[in-house]
Amino acid sequence: MSHIDKDIQTILVNETELDRVTFRIASEIDRDYKDSEHLVLLCILKGSIVFTSELMRKLTIPSEVDFMKVSSYGTGTISSGHVNIVLDILRDDLEKCDILIIEDIIDSGRTLSYLADYLRFKGAKSVKTCTLLDKPSRRTVEFEPDYVGLEIPDEFVVGYGLDYAERYRQLPYIGILKPSVYEK
Ligand code: PRP
Repeated sequence: MSHIDKDIQTILVNETELDRVTFRIASEIDRDYKDSEHLVLLCILKGSIVFTSELMRKLTIPSEVDFMKVSSYGTGTISSGHVNIVLDILRDDLEKCDILIIEDIIDSGRTLSYLADYLRFKGAKSVKTCTLLDKPSRRTVEFEPDYVGLEIPDEFVVGYGLDYAERYRQLPYIGILKPSVYEK
């Protein structure tokens, strides 16, 4: 057991299950975008880096990757409720792009709802959304993603890109963090 594994209470989604889920979503994207001339996987930094790279490797159709960074959380576990664009998408051909926004997790729904509207407003040819994890019980805005890996309970999860105070992103599984870590 590594130093960071000891902070994990339970493994919620193991590596085998993550492989199965990412393969299923990649197959759905392959099917739905087979006629697309310009699919762009828009990775929302930082949490989506692992999920995005896994999807890229499992897709069989051509795709590009691009990045945006927004901030809605502080360093703790509570959302501030605001979405700020920290790094915008830097391209001038959005009208030709089928944008698929890739997120690690949806909680209140504010981030994906805001980003989808923003990219439509900027003139993208099409905009869809994909999340690895969904916590539907936490929604404060009405929002349904187009692709969902797994619905999960309202637990504080880390790993596979997800952090607590920038730690634990490197874990190869999704784990529930021991409350003692963030209640210190
Ligand atoms: C997380 C996640 C989403 C957002 C979801 O990002 O990656 O972007 O929160 O929450 P919402 O549905 O309530 O809007 P976070 O702000 O933790 O940043 P990070 O990806 O850089 O860790």
